[in-house]
Amino acid sequence: MLETYILGIESSCDDTSAAILHNKRVLSNVIANQEVHSQYGGVVPELASRAHQRNIIPVIENSLQLAKINKKQISAVSFTRGPGLLGSLLVGVSFAKAFAYSLNIPLIEVDHLKAHILSHFIVDEKNNVYPSFPFLCLIISGGHTQIVKVNSPLSMELLGQTIDDAAGETFDKTAKILDLPYPGGPSVSKAAEKGNPFKFNFAKPKIEGLNFSFSGLKTSFLYTIRDNLKLNPNFISENINDLAASIQRTIVDILVEKMILASEITGINEIALAGGVSANLKLRNTFTDIAFNKKWNLFLPQLQYTTDNAAMIAIAGYFKFLNNDFASFDVTPYTKTSF
Ligand code: KG4
Ligand code: ZN
Repeated sequence: MLETYILGIESSCDDTSAAILHNKRVLSNVIANQEVHSQYGGVVPELASRAHQRNIIPVIENSLQLAKINKKQISAVSFTRGPGLLGSLLVGVSFAKAFAYSLNIPLIEVDHLKAHILSHFIVDEKNNVYPSFPFLCLIISGGHTQIVKVNSPLSMELLGQTIDDAAGETFDKTAKILDLPYPGGPSVSKAAEKGNPFKFNFAKPKIEGLNFSFSGLKTSFLYTIRDNLKLNPNFISENINDLAASIQRTIVDILVEKMILASEITGINEIALAGGVSANLKLRNTFTDIAFNKKWNLFLPQLQYTTDNAAMIAIAGYFKFLNNDFASFDVTPYTKTSF
């Protein structure tokens, strides 16, 4: 078997990450989070690009040290081409080009969303079962909510997606309304632990087929708060856990219902979750119960591969490497989804 060492670089949003894979096995996966955004309640693109610029070299050096390899052993460099924030992407793309050019090794462009899906094939001490093809993957991240039919590592079909907000964005906006810290998903989920998920009912969208909508839910949440604050100025603080648990339950219900439909329509029972929101415990538990009832083979990513990381960029790069699918050196980032 061909021995490959792929360097993966991720810089699409607010995490600067570098990983090294030996074939499909992770040797290192270093992530520098950017604390600077928490005070603004969301990612500030200009600040994100500057932080990537500061972090990229230390993160790469750290990934090489942890992997205990020399940069001359690297077979190819894979990087996130998009979607994401342009200024952030440019840092990773430019670094990847310079690195590959100086070592005279191939450059591989990777789609961030496809990489979230392919994170299921990363090999490490805990990962030893993998989805078989074709499988359905629900990608739930800060910017995307999509159902994808995965025919092979290099062949994927989009079956449905959100027509407005993403699931992660809904968690983040909810947190902002409740004055909980950014990123919203983990803080809403924490508040929800002590709350009653059936205390409040919010309007669920009525969207045909496999598309999603979350903007009506966000409005319903906002109006519930606004109307109740008129009657009780302490409404949020007195109900914060129940509000968090109820909105979390509604988001999870919407996602579960669509995946059940997707499985029925396609006849596929091999189901995977991917993206930052798939770290949510309530979501993982609910999907596990449904999988048991519906006899699905369910694949939940390990927590370190749910949110943005470069190991997933390296595994996506590995599959392209095997296919000799290389990028040219005049490649530029894209900001919108490629599906
Ligand atoms: O995949 P990701 O790291 O970045 C994007 O590609 O967008 O996803 C980030 C999203 C954020 O919206 C964040 O609030 C959400 O994932 N998230 C969660 C949890 N952890 C992160 N949402 C719900 N529950 C969590 N535990
Ligand atoms: Zn992501």
